[in-house]
Amino acid sequence: MIFFIDSADLNEIRELNDLGIINGVTTNPSLMAKEGIVGANSILEHYQEICNIVTGDVSAEVISTEYKDIIEEGHKLSEVDKKIVVKIPMIKNGLKALHYFSKNRIKTNCTLVFSASQALLAAKAGATYVSPFMARLDDWDKKTCSSFEMLSDIKTIYQNYNYNTKILGASIRNKDYIIKCAKLGADVITAPFKSLISLIDHPLTDSGLKKFIEDFKNFKTLN
Ligand code: E4P
Repeated sequence: MIFFIDSADLNEIRELNDLGIINGVTTNPSLMAKEGIVGANSILEHYQEICNIVTGDVSAEVISTEYKDIIEEGHKLSEVDKKIVVKIPMIKNGLKALHYFSKNRIKTNCTLVFSASQALLAAKAGATYVSPFMARLDDWDKKTCSSFEMLSDIKTIYQNYNYNTKILGASIRNKDYIIKCAKLGADVITAPFKSLISLIDHPLTDSGLKKFIEDFKNFKTLN
């Protein structure tokens, strides 16, 4: 299973990359703004720095919503590094842009997806990745369709028609979401540092280790 960190923080990206548990990165305009990255040049430089750390794909999101502007912005982003994946919102102009980039062999990530129908369109347009937003959907209305039903429907539909678009579980808030995505067969998940690092923890690991260390200390004093 592929893991991306959902962050624009270079220290977080480096730390998880050094642990060997992430394959790439996703960002969005909110995460870039959080790091104080504004202005075209700083944005492109920051993406280059991220690409220098990881070996896999780095999703860089367009801000434009007009077709021509999405294409122009997408080209600028993709020229930064071959690891760049142009992240495009699920809107009509976005679909057209996904189709354009697919024909031009530029990788894309269709973002802000909240239904199986949107995911079906993203696959038809040729998106490389589709990002169903899990927790945001559950926060909004869990009763009509939970994020897990959405993911499972997308998986079934993609399998039925052999779509190559990879399912990238996004908007992940904790490790339960990660494990559920893994059980449902998501190809990729993207999660914040806190959720990914929490996969390490178990109280029995901590108490077991404490006991081993204590017992070994006693053993040493006997000799
Ligand atoms: C993914 O590509 C998005 O940037 C991200 O997962 C959104 O997560 P949030 O709902 O926690 O902001």
